[in-house]
Amino acid sequence: MGRWRALRCMDPLNRGAGRTPADIGAGAPAVPFEAMLAQTRQAFDSVAETYDGPRGNNALIQRMRERSWYAIERYAPASSRLLDIGCGTGIDAMHFAALGYSVCATDASGGMISRATARAAATSMKDRIDWRQLGAQELNRLDGRFHTAYSNFGALNCVPDLRLVARECARLLTDRGHMVFTVIGRLCPWELGYYLLQGRPRRACVRFARDMVAVQLNQLRVWARYYTPRQFYRCFDRQFELVHTQALSLWVPPPYLVSWHERHAHLGRMLGWLDDHTGGLPLLRSAGDHFLMVLRKRH
Ligand SMILES: C[S@@+](CC[C@H](N)C(=O)[O-])C[C@H]1O[C@@H](n2cnc3c(N)ncnc32)[C@H](O)[C@@H]1O
Repeated sequence: MGRWRALRCMDPLNRGAGRTPADIGAGAPAVPFEAMLAQTRQAFDSVAETYDGPRGNNALIQRMRERSWYAIERYAPASSRLLDIGCGTGIDAMHFAALGYSVCATDASGGMISRATARAAATSMKDRIDWRQLGAQELNRLDGRFHTAYSNFGALNCVPDLRLVARECARLLTDRGHMVFTVIGRLCPWELGYYLLQGRPRRACVRFARDMVAVQLNQLRVWARYYTPRQFYRCFDRQFELVHTQALSLWVPPPYLVSWHERHAHLGRMLGWLDDHTGGLPLLRSAGDHFLMVLRKRH
């Protein structure tokens, strides 16, 4: 989302967001889930053409992406079938296709799928990727078996009901199959400090909203909910056991501060070392711009 880190957040648009009107008492303002999903889709459609450039994939995003690739390659058997949820412009899908995996790459945004298809068309990987315009909340429309599912950089933050995703992933995954997610976290010390120092406390606290909140991308709205690893895992715990959690961009700044990071290259390397060596420790792993989570399907 610009990525999420480059987003200029709006104030939460209404206190009732995140539930359907029926869940909320008469008179409470609410945005239905369908409208949230449609607005989010439009926002991503509007940036799809350039999202594989610095807007959506700068050096700090790529740093986190490599941690996710490492985890996926560790758990996905060679040449197996992968499911990419919220594939964007297809950077991950093309990486894994090049390594010999076959990938079903899904995204809610038609613009993202068109961009991804066009990028892949020029390569020899195109036969190993099946592109589908499909929201994470619509995985019931998908058939087949996958060894591993993954979702990078916040697609799952945009889904109103993650328990549905958990049920469908359990149906689609092979026995003891894995899922690897990078999710936008709730507690990002850098972001708190950065916006508090600017005198913008509402912006600093946007990740603490209880429900879905609207954030701005290209002057359109993306609806998202922010999680601690524990809150996120609670949506999956019936079908999946927790294998690993790790903070990403905890000491390293969030991607929207990439120019600061580049200006302080030596310090940046030290912070990167700290991220890699302390991001998995208790307490610390619950903070950071994102967290990486690995789950395994229960017997
Ligand atoms: C920040 S981008 C990340 C894209 C890609 N995973 C990557 O690593 O470059 C988030 C993606 O999630 C997609 N998305 C948003 N809501 C979604 C939903 N409900 N279901 C599936 N994809 C969704 C967006 O269209 C966008 O492509």
